[in-house]
Amino acid sequence: MQHIVIFDSGIGGTSVLAHIQKAFPNANYSYLMDNLYLPYGELESKVLQQRLLQKLKTVEESFEPIDLIVVACNTASTQSLCLLRSHTDIPIVGVVPAIKPAASKTKTKKIGLLATPATTNNKYIQNLIKDHANGIEVHLYASVNLVTLAEHKFWRGEVNQFALKEEVENLNISKEIDYLVLGCTHFPILSSEIHKALDMDIELIDSGNAIANRVIDVLPQNIKDQKSQQIKRPVRFYATAPIKNTKQRVEVIKLIDL
Ligand code: DGL
Repeated sequence: MQHIVIFDSGIGGTSVLAHIQKAFPNANYSYLMDNLYLPYGELESKVLQQRLLQKLKTVEESFEPIDLIVVACNTASTQSLCLLRSHTDIPIVGVVPAIKPAASKTKTKKIGLLATPATTNNKYIQNLIKDHANGIEVHLYASVNLVTLAEHKFWRGEVNQFALKEEVENLNISKEIDYLVLGCTHFPILSSEIHKALDMDIELIDSGNAIANRVIDVLPQNIKDQKSQQIKRPVRFYATAPIKNTKQRVEVIKLIDL
């Protein structure tokens, strides 16, 4: 049975996992969150890269055999995908903010990217904009508070509406954009709340579907043939730090190699 490992700093990757699981319900999934280092969006590039290489080793040693690793984190993917790929033979799929689809859909020729500071400050994003949003005005917005709020929603089942509204207001998102790219996998968890707080005619767009399609491209044919079985298996969750104050949304969380 095929084994797909999903990796993120926290629970953001579950927004990607949901799309992949829909495409491949019968795969075995391991989900590793590096919550000891959460939020990745505030880490220095060098620190993050070292940490990711270390976790890649953990994944390889603890979870083998593995058919595919999905780095379900924009911050990690935009900074380190090439580096990670150069250190393993296991295929790796990463997440790229949906700048390209947003740029092709916009009518106002103005879009926004909402991501972590590490992502918005990254040269990779500048290149992505140059390559796929030529002639489009791209406004960049950075937030880590939304990462914390998404974690809180997932683990506690509640959203601090006041804090969320305040954060969205402080971002001062231009009224002229018609698409806002959610360039952090934590943010789709809060998409309805963000949309409501924005109180404007805007579409939020993320990469969940595109990643599931990419996984379909990358997996070997014999694995895809098993798709018809449609037996959904429980996801095994692993974390690098204990989860505090949870109302338990996932059944088993094993602590792994801090
Ligand atoms: N979910 C991650 C992302 O897509 C990172 C959030 C964080 O740890 O800052 O960027």
